[in-house]
Amino acid sequence: MNYRGPFRVRADHNKPDPEILHPQDAIVRVTRSCICGSDLHIYHGLVPDTRVGTTFGHEFTGVVEQVGTGVQKLKVGDHVLVPFNIACGSCTFCKQELYGNCHESNPEATAVGGIFGYSHTAGGYDGGQAEYVRVPYADVGPTIIPEGMDLDDAVLLTDVVPTGYQAAEMGGIKKGDTVVVFGAGPIGIMAAKCAWLFGAARVIIIDHLEYRLEFARNYSQCEAYNFKSLGDPVVFMKKTTGGLGADVCIDAVGAEAAGDTMQTLLGRKMLMTGGSATALHWAINSVKKGGIISIVGVYGPINALVPIGNVVNKGLTIRANQASVKRLLPRMIEHVQAGRIDPKGIITHRIPLEEVSEAYHIFSAKRDNCIKPVLIPPKAEMRA
Ligand SMILES: NC(=O)c1ccc[n+]([C@@H]2O[C@H](COP(=O)([O-])OP(=O)(O)OC[C@H]3O[C@@H](n4cnc5c(N)ncnc54)[C@H](O)[C@@H]3O)[C@@H](O)[C@H]2O)c1
Ligand SMILES: [Zn+2]
Ligand SMILES: [Zn+2]
Repeated sequence: MNYRGPFRVRADHNKPDPEILHPQDAIVRVTRSCICGSDLHIYHGLVPDTRVGTTFGHEFTGVVEQVGTGVQKLKVGDHVLVPFNIACGSCTFCKQELYGNCHESNPEATAVGGIFGYSHTAGGYDGGQAEYVRVPYADVGPTIIPEGMDLDDAVLLTDVVPTGYQAAEMGGIKKGDTVVVFGAGPIGIMAAKCAWLFGAARVIIIDHLEYRLEFARNYSQCEAYNFKSLGDPVVFMKKTTGGLGADVCIDAVGAEAAGDTMQTLLGRKMLMTGGSATALHWAINSVKKGGIISIVGVYGPINALVPIGNVVNKGLTIRANQASVKRLLPRMIEHVQAGRIDPKGIITHRIPLEEVSEAYHIFSAKRDNCIKPVLIPPKAEMRA
């Protein structure tokens, strides 16, 4: 696929296939690639330095077609799932397992490391919504898909499952906690599901799309509320938690939050702040004193409107990051194999790569009860 400008992507038959550029590269023939809520930020033109011609896609599986001369472990023919973070595996931050903050993979690495298909702000790498993709540091990220694992499960281990899990993990959830998740997209739904694994006693999810709330009730077995019918969501949250507030609040919405006219105007329309911080604002105000806020929703680098005074005066802890996929993979594979997490259960749409433009349209407009779309390249067999 090829980005042509805000709200415009198309299948491109003329873009040359990627080549090995460095001895540690591999070329992977893609078998599955998903569209993510993060892709919507670039699709909507909100991420700086998203260049026309870029191929998006940071959630993919594929078969190794070619390896560079410096690649030692990965072999041609291996069927791998590839974490969305591009990580060198050996810098100061990778050594601390902060694979989302690699200091080598992104020339602009003041904050985030490299990410496949995520603008030049995240390294300028082409992504996996394609037939072939170049995978740097091929011995670090790519992980062989375990024997017998469904490809549709495997592709969700590249981002959604570890990100949802890390959202719950950063919340420091303790046995008996009440956890509120803002956002019933794939990430929020997975975070709510994972909150139970940490011992939560009550899990609440908030969104304004009824079909997603309904989906979350079933998939994540949680309470689900529409913020449009709550009046003030913060007051509702206080009331339903005995007046004290939730123990943990998770922001799984990020920069494109709805629900507050001023935030939307400044953050989404005029681009004067790093996005609309409505969900984060609500999270800070509805968590209890001394509580924990976990942020996985993505925001721009400039200032956002958050009630920082309340963070200080309530004694809150804020934890946030891009998920460290490689760190979490072994544990995630175990959870999937044990049947505790059913990743492919969130896939609602399987769409040929050729129809990428329509796929973005459906997912962006939240049409057709879409939760998670997967793109299937022509050479990958379509599995039900
Ligand atoms: N940190 C990471 O590693 C990481 C990884 C993947 C995705 N993300 C980010 O997580 C966020 C969610 O991703 P997704 O794929 O689920 O996206 P998505 O767009 O499918 O879902 C976002 C949901 O938030 C809802 N929403 C909007 N305003 C809200 C509000 N004020 N309160 C509650 N809900 C609200 C929307 O209706 C939507 O259902 C995005 O910002 C994405 O960029 C982060
Ligand atoms: Zn993603
Ligand atoms: Zn590194």
